[in-house]
Amino acid sequence: MCSIIGYRGDGPAAPVIVSGLKRMEYRGYDSVGVATQTGSGISLKKGVGRVAEVNQSAGLDGMPGTIGIGHTRWATHGQVTDANAHPHACNSGAVAVVHNGTIENFEELKKGLSAAGYSFTSETDTEVIANQLQKNYSAEEGAESALLKTLPELRGRYAFVAMFEDGTMVAARLHEPLIVGVGEDSYFLSSDVLGFIERTDDAIYIDNGCFVVVDEKGMRISRFDGTPVRPQITKVSKEIADAYKGDYAHFTLKEISEQPDTILRCGGDGGAVEQMAGEIRRAGTAYITGSGTSYNAALVARHVMSKYADTRLEPIIASELPHSPFSAGEGSVFIAVSQSGESADVIDAAAIARDSGARIVSIVNMRTSSLARESDVVVGMNCGPEIGVAATKSFTSQLGIIYKMADIIGGGRAGADFAAVSKAISGILSDHAGIKKLAGELRDVTDMYVLGRGVHYPMAAEAALKLKELTYVHAEGIPGGELKHGPLALMGPGVYAVIMNPADSTYEDTLTGAREIRARGAKIIGISDKNSDVYDHWVELPRVGESSYPLVEMVPVQLLAYYLALEKDTDPDHPRNLAKSVTVR
Ligand code: F6R
Repeated sequence: MCSIIGYRGDGPAAPVIVSGLKRMEYRGYDSVGVATQTGSGISLKKGVGRVAEVNQSAGLDGMPGTIGIGHTRWATHGQVTDANAHPHACNSGAVAVVHNGTIENFEELKKGLSAAGYSFTSETDTEVIANQLQKNYSAEEGAESALLKTLPELRGRYAFVAMFEDGTMVAARLHEPLIVGVGEDSYFLSSDVLGFIERTDDAIYIDNGCFVVVDEKGMRISRFDGTPVRPQITKVSKEIADAYKGDYAHFTLKEISEQPDTILRCGGDGGAVEQMAGEIRRAGTAYITGSGTSYNAALVARHVMSKYADTRLEPIIASELPHSPFSAGEGSVFIAVSQSGESADVIDAAAIARDSGARIVSIVNMRTSSLARESDVVVGMNCGPEIGVAATKSFTSQLGIIYKMADIIGGGRAGADFAAVSKAISGILSDHAGIKKLAGELRDVTDMYVLGRGVHYPMAAEAALKLKELTYVHAEGIPGGELKHGPLALMGPGVYAVIMNPADSTYEDTLTGAREIRARGAKIIGISDKNSDVYDHWVELPRVGESSYPLVEMVPVQLLAYYLALEKDTDPDHPRNLAKSVTVR
């Protein structure tokens, strides 16, 4: 939800911190701030806006000092205001904190601190951490001792970095990511390797319930009870370097354009997919979960596995699981789909499933993520970092893995020809002038509906999700047959309906729905390999094997949503109010 970074090295800290924050902006981009240690204490600057904007107005990267911390925010406690932006300093100004996550008992702590004479300038839970550290600090015992006293007082999920006036930095992790970057004569404390990848590819992934101290003696890691931990350095994959936009105007367009390649890499060399298939074969019951786009992939999985592998998968929305009468049962398998592997809803759902007897298989893009580390089997999407907030290439990779798994269990009946799919996606990407033009026509549209039947219904739900998050148009996915049970009342002039209509067994029935919509004056956009006079706009799909349509049909919709975002002058990489990894519940 937010990104945190701390740096201690030989050179100026502020420019290093600002460039790390720019890379991690996908995690939150409401406001930004930096604090550095200077000869005379801690200097702090922050404000509402994107990193580049606040840097320009406040001169963040010119702040003096070789030790500093920084933050980009996605508001959880309190509105998007300068006062609520991080870092937050304690009353004396001797400690500054950047924080990702939530402190559940902050109101209780705030009351205690207020009674002890502390005052607050923000509505955040973070300011409580800064003051609690100050309260627990004594010059004789130092920063580490203050942290050890503070940690048991905090309840919630968090990763934070606190910088003390003497230059000591401490950082702690409980259910939110924290990674140490180890450079030559420098240390980074960051939410993501992207925070330091420009400077070093040596990373230490901090375990849950551990803290880090960086001071003039170097860096050390301990558990919350004070037991030392031996650091294990991991080389970060060079693939992370893909996180650069290159010549593309936006990450979203770059990531859409990578799909001919990424679809070929999904699931790796097959060993992990085989393992997942084995788990499902052995399981009594198989569940599949995810959030947002990843849940839509889970819905496609149910269809594909049932049709081509005679295997029942029960999909459950991750955020609903804690509120459902759910018990996985011994001998069951729980498949958790998550690009980031950090979605709190998915991690919580997997924990509940594990506690009720299931083995956990995760399909993740980030193999070092919290979810991956808590899984029995991990299948990698291998599509490289996805920085654009809207999921694009990760969705097709998730589907690709599902098709591979269906083929292993079903003896090749899903029949996905990945080389042909890759070629078909390239075809869509190489000639999309028509989609761009259509986006121009849709510029003032406020309501869109997306229809599909069978496996194309979850695809319609995903198409609607892309349209709403990238363009802010109200968009709704509807199962084709449900039209006459209510949604037809909404159709009329000015409305556009997108019809997910490949030429398979659903084609004619879906077209019937489209005719009914058109008869009410709405316009029809047909996504299909077969034209029809019902379509006002035909977005042509290349012909692929009947079973493989889901692997290609989202690409034109992703492009349409992207170009419509540009028409509407919204930022496709950073839709308002959203963040790439939703690490809060
Ligand atoms: C939609 C989107 C979100 C994510 C959801 C789950 O484009 O990006 O709906 O799909 O937040 O994220 P992961 O897959 O990281 O668990």
